[in-house]
Amino acid sequence: MNRRLGINGPLVSAIGLGCMGMSGAYGPSDEKESIATIERALELGHNFLDTADYYRLGHNEELISQAIKDKREKAFLSVKTGQLVTPGPDGSMTPGPVCGHPDYLRNAVFYSLRRLKTDYIDLYTQGRVDPTVPIEETVGALADLVQKGVIRYIGLSEASPDSIRKAAAVHPITALQIEYSLWSRDIEAEVLPTIRKLGIGLVAYAPLSRGFLSGEIRTPNDLKDSRVNMPRYQGENFYKNLALVEQIKMLATEKGCTPTQLAIAWVLAQGDDIITIPGTKRINYLEANIASENVQLNREDLQSIEAIMPAGIVSGTRYPERFMNALNR
Ligand SMILES: NC(=O)c1ccc[n+]([C@@H]2O[C@H](COP(=O)([O-])OP(=O)(O)OC[C@H]3O[C@@H](n4cnc5c(N)ncnc54)[C@H](OP(=O)(O)O)[C@@H]3O)[C@@H](O)[C@H]2O)c1
Repeated sequence: MNRRLGINGPLVSAIGLGCMGMSGAYGPSDEKESIATIERALELGHNFLDTADYYRLGHNEELISQAIKDKREKAFLSVKTGQLVTPGPDGSMTPGPVCGHPDYLRNAVFYSLRRLKTDYIDLYTQGRVDPTVPIEETVGALADLVQKGVIRYIGLSEASPDSIRKAAAVHPITALQIEYSLWSRDIEAEVLPTIRKLGIGLVAYAPLSRGFLSGEIRTPNDLKDSRVNMPRYQGENFYKNLALVEQIKMLATEKGCTPTQLAIAWVLAQGDDIITIPGTKRINYLEANIASENVQLNREDLQSIEAIMPAGIVSGTRYPERFMNALNR
């Protein structure tokens, strides 16, 4: 299934592939399987591949370059930039400040092109709004890159309604990438109406709440990566949230699908202007996620889901405080 991204934007797969986990965000990954997963997505016509230059310092882009070799035209490359990262001696990556400076962006894009081994990026997204640079300047630099033909469309991520309006006054913004799932619904109040008014598409990231909505994460000890720092997956919150997942699981069983598929289908049911990018590094998960397209949720189903998981019911914020503060709200 394809959907148009933004009112005048490109047609892309409604279910894309989030590639972040292939570079160690959620535990170890196998490069061969990661590449095979990307190739399988393209083979199945799911062209929207999401990455960032800061996913393990370009490692993620290099992986993608291997998978799209000789089939660049089959892929729609969504690349985020503007998040600085400090590597530690133990291989850890600490997200540093955000950078939306025009000189930085004009430079960063050419590094991405080189790693991706391509001469254009389909959707180039400022990963976070830089509070020290007027958003108009950031978007102005991206507009120059469109003019030069090195990027095709401009995106923003985790931007506030005010920033989105200012950005759209400089150049059409094709998509906003932001967390949106059964568990992260705060965008419904202001952000979603704002982008809809401006004809901007939504790329919903973390539709599975980082895997938690699959129901396969049973205890906090199952997590041995960055998720241990996220309030939703800690202590009492963990178990309160797991109880919600159990209820979703029962509903999914009644519908003949998995909770993961129900969660993805729910996101897609929120509007034709929404696409989503479940992340995985495994072919079997990718194929199962793509099959969510076949899960039809009628009004009754949506009401049952809403009764179990009304907006705001989840315990704990989606990021630790330091990262919540870096969001443009
Ligand atoms: N703009 C931003 O600020 C931002 C932030 C975070 C992420 N993103 C993008 O959004 C993408 C998706 O978000 P995300 O990866 O953080 O979270 P997510 O899609 O909600 O969940 C990913 C997790 O779910 C697991 N999973 C996937 N399919 C599954 C299935 N069918 N059954 C059981 N478990 C399954 C994955 O396992 P495996 O890893 O074992 O495959 C992974 O641990 C990322 O890859 C990245 O491209 C953007």
